Amino acid sequence: MRVDVVFTPDEAGAAPTGIVVDVIRATSTISQALAAGYERVFCAAEVDEVRALRRALGEGVLGGERKAVRIPGFDLGNSPREYLEPAGPTLILSTTNGTRAVVAAAERCERVFIAALLNLSAVVDAARTAGADVVVVCAGVQGTLALDDAFVAGRIVELLGWERTDAAEAAARLVSSWSGAEEAFRASKSGRNLMENAPELEADIPFCAREGVLDVVPRLVAMRDGAAEIAL
Ligand code: MLT
Repeated sequence: MRVDVVFTPDEAGAAPTGIVVDVIRATSTISQALAAGYERVFCAAEVDEVRALRRALGEGVLGGERKAVRIPGFDLGNSPREYLEPAGPTLILSTTNGTRAVVAAAERCERVFIAALLNLSAVVDAARTAGADVVVVCAGVQGTLALDDAFVAGRIVELLGWERTDAAEAAARLVSSWSGAEEAFRASKSGRNLMENAPELEADIPFCAREGVLDVVPRLVAMRDGAAEIAL
């Protein structure tokens, strides 16, 4: 089996299994929300899509961010610490980069898993069980590589232990450049954006830097009106 990494969702790259990573913070939030008891998370690229989906479903907690802070009129932001308890069965989420990456992966992979560091080993086990080549789709930041996602991609590559593309090898080699995940996350554009735009949410960084604490494998189950429905 082979593992590849794309550092932004716009890069060409497809495999039967896609693993989407936006560790600061969308995929951490999705994993935490489902672990806490939300039954499904819809990932939508645009704010208007979120509102339309809630009208169509007749229910749904609205979550997400722009420039790291809660979208005006939404119930919750994109801090995984806001999702320790479910506020309803359905979360409809839109974030700057992460939810777009999920939708992009849904267009090109047969199966899609959502990975953060929080649920890393559970997702790696699921990918191994699926028994097909993997592409790790990093959300990045507005079309550019982000070191936090690259770090998590590198950990996935290390844990899978499969044949690697050059991109996967590069991601794996990045991991040892830092003393650990938190240092990598703080050094990344995503981490710096969070600390600059929402310094009160800095504690999200150590929260997201914990590896293997959630035994959940969020996966794509359907598409609805352009949004990706994610459930366990
Ligand atoms: C994103 O989708 O760009 C992020 O999750 C941003 C964030 O909320 O930190």
